[in-house]
Amino acid sequence: MSTNQFGKAGWTPERIGNLNGKTYVITGTTSGTGFEAAKILLSKEAKVVMLNRNPKKSADVIATLQQELGKDIDISCIQMDLAELASVKKAAEEMLKTVARIDALICNAAIAQVPKQQITVDGFESQLGVNHYGHFLLQGMLFPLIEKSKGRIVTVGSMGYDMGIKTIKFDDMTWNKDYTANKAYSQSKLAQIMSIYELQDRLKAADKTDVKAYACHPGSSRTSLISTSGSLMMRIIFGIMKLLPLTQSAEKGAYPELMCATEENLDQKGFYGPTGRSNWTGPVGVHKIEPHAKDKAVSGKLWTVSEQATGFKWSF
Ligand SMILES: NC(=O)c1ccc[n+]([C@@H]2O[C@H](COP(=O)([O-])OP(=O)(O)OC[C@H]3O[C@@H](n4cnc5c(N)ncnc54)[C@H](OP(=O)(O)O)[C@@H]3O)[C@@H](O)[C@H]2O)c1
Repeated sequence: MSTNQFGKAGWTPERIGNLNGKTYVITGTTSGTGFEAAKILLSKEAKVVMLNRNPKKSADVIATLQQELGKDIDISCIQMDLAELASVKKAAEEMLKTVARIDALICNAAIAQVPKQQITVDGFESQLGVNHYGHFLLQGMLFPLIEKSKGRIVTVGSMGYDMGIKTIKFDDMTWNKDYTANKAYSQSKLAQIMSIYELQDRLKAADKTDVKAYACHPGSSRTSLISTSGSLMMRIIFGIMKLLPLTQSAEKGAYPELMCATEENLDQKGFYGPTGRSNWTGPVGVHKIEPHAKDKAVSGKLWTVSEQATGFKWSF
């Protein structure tokens, strides 16, 4: 294993300075890593805008964080359901009108291991729709604000990118044939990661290198992910894993996305997450990414397919 650039303990939020004046936008903060990331950023005096689908849960999050951190925290929420392009569009339009800057857009929300094929209102397989297409549209629409702020786009992927079919099933994006929860989830996370590396190349070609794009993952963290959308069997398996040292806290799971959102001079080509066994737990830093995640022919095609699917054309 290579030496961690942040020392033996890896990257920790102690490296974050005061964030007063900075704005972080996070999708999916009602639980898990998104909640923990919001809490840590607020504790450093940042402004946090949450993009969540459930207004009641968002109000509860605000109340909890105010109780824990004080009434003065700068937190707000805009309702957004990543499963509906119209909802993403509406939220992004509201953001463009009401938010002055974005230092980092953290694309954290996801569903996982959906046991039976589900199709969104826009006609997408649900995991691809929520995890990839919803965020792809959000990133594109918010780009002008991120660019104005010389900000970052951070995608929370998964080691699942290296499971499943390890490429994009262009001839059957909705998995009408051979649907399995794991393969479809894996592909959605691979799509998210691939589009970040593709975005980096496009930013460079368009001479827009003031904006940075990063891919990371939380390892194996004790969150609500599987209990929200996974099958009973997956819930039992993950329930057992949670009792073993194969998993880490949701707070530690938030470190990679926080690092990518705040750390200076981070190499964009890297893939960031826990560096211990199987990259499930351990000190946070950069680690290996398999070549299929950076396959240019596939990522270029995915970009075109994603623009067509979302009806959003990036300006570069
Ligand atoms: N936990 C792990 O071990 C693990 C492993 C690999 C990757 N990840 C990745 O880590 C990220 C965070 O997940 P987590 O583990 O913290 O899971 P989590 O506790 O279930 O949090 C997921 C968040 O996404 C939100 N969300 C789900 N569907 C949404 C939609 N249609 N529109 C808007 N928000 C939506 C959820 O909101 P609701 O409360 O409304 O459901 C929740 O706030 C995900 O990208 C996941 O793929 C996690």
